[in-house]
Amino acid sequence: MLHEGQQRILARAQRWNAVACGRRFGKTTLGLALAAAGAPHAPGGLLAGYDVGWFAPTYKLLDDAFRAARVFLRAYERRVDSQQKRLELVTGSALDFWTLEDTDAGRGRRYGLVIVDEAAMARNLQAIWEQAIRPTLADYQGGAWFFSTPKGRNYFHALYARHGIIPGWCAHHAPTSANPYIPATEIEEARRTLPERVFLQEYEAAFLDDGGGVFRHVLAAVDEDLLGDPSLAVDATDGRGFVIGVDWGRHNDFTVFTVVDARRRAVVAVDRFTDIEYGIQLGRLKALHSRFRLAPILAESNAMGEPLIEQLRRDGLPVRAFQTTAVSKAAAVEALALAFERREIRIPKIPALVDELLAFDQERLPSGAIRYRAPEGQHDDCVMSLAIAWHGLTWGAPIAAAAPRETVFE
Ligand SMILES: Nc1ncnc2c1ncn2[C@@H]1O[C@H](COP(=O)(O)OP(=O)(O)OP(=O)(O)O)[C@@H](O)[C@H]1O
Ligand SMILES: [Mg+2]
Repeated sequence: MLHEGQQRILARAQRWNAVACGRRFGKTTLGLALAAAGAPHAPGGLLAGYDVGWFAPTYKLLDDAFRAARVFLRAYERRVDSQQKRLELVTGSALDFWTLEDTDAGRGRRYGLVIVDEAAMARNLQAIWEQAIRPTLADYQGGAWFFSTPKGRNYFHALYARHGIIPGWCAHHAPTSANPYIPATEIEEARRTLPERVFLQEYEAAFLDDGGGVFRHVLAAVDEDLLGDPSLAVDATDGRGFVIGVDWGRHNDFTVFTVVDARRRAVVAVDRFTDIEYGIQLGRLKALHSRFRLAPILAESNAMGEPLIEQLRRDGLPVRAFQTTAVSKAAAVEALALAFERREIRIPKIPALVDELLAFDQERLPSGAIRYRAPEGQHDDCVMSLAIAWHGLTWGAPIAAAAPRETVFE
């Protein structure tokens, strides 16, 4: 039984369909239902005796769909080739699975219907569609369905934009909330805790402009007076109310210390340098800490971080460990992005910091998880140092939704 959101899509179908949906809307489920039962404006699906081709960008996604299909079609299964990823049914038809990386995908096959799942994640979607997939539909005048959560304005968007321009093409759009099986509270939770742009893309299925980045209103958060403010002459005074975030440098990387003022919710000092000789790193951190004497330090503990933290403790500094994992990094970055979105943070005019914040990006992994990172060839040490400091500032406070996931504190 298709849910209402899926039925609405079916009711408007054309021969060619680009379906932009939020995560968990039910794209794969709808794709399987179409593969079995066929689609409007296509000759038919598996149960009517037509072969169907299923395409996915990665082997992992393909394997998930293959297994879901086996469950879905178990009543009709005749022969299974797990190696070639082919399901033959008692109706005489077969469901073939291909990755979109495979330049031979679909060669020699004739399909009544083709399903492309997570189409926006395929790098070479245009080439494989035009050269490999489209010809498989010629014999039966088969139909094609491109399902995906959007990923900027790439080729999937171009297909989506054909609606109303090229006859036979239909664009469908549905947010995650159109799936009645996903509790509304889950979606609200995501809206509250994810950066707005991430939420818009992943849950509202919005096509965002490329290069939009993760942090918004960065320039509006810049306060030219922050570093020169005399009220910040805290040297040798009470450092309570400050947190120092530490991102240690690796190869070709900067070490960055960021001091945040809890009361004013502002970055008040940044030290960034490339000398990875550890004695020098520790010396500089101690110098900074002596300006903000009682400020707790939250330092990355990965790799060389561990022994450095040990040394700082022996020297009597109040340091805690922040273990960077995909999950703890995402939580810290998301909390920082929210602070910018809500204009709750101010930063000084430090070009490296501002540039990194503007460029910082996100990508969705085949697993569905979101990875945050600097664009290829750029740094993210200022961002991470700030995210760690901000995390230190707010731990136990409202980012609770993000913090406990897997952030490891000692
Ligand atoms: N018609 C339906 N009836 C019952 N449950 C459904 C239906 N459609 C989807 N679901 C359920 O909703 C959840 C998401 O479905 P599905 O995996 O098809 O979504 P998706 O959009 O492909 O998700 P993802 O973005 O993770 O790939 C699953 O638990 C699935 O069982
Ligand atoms: Mg899916």
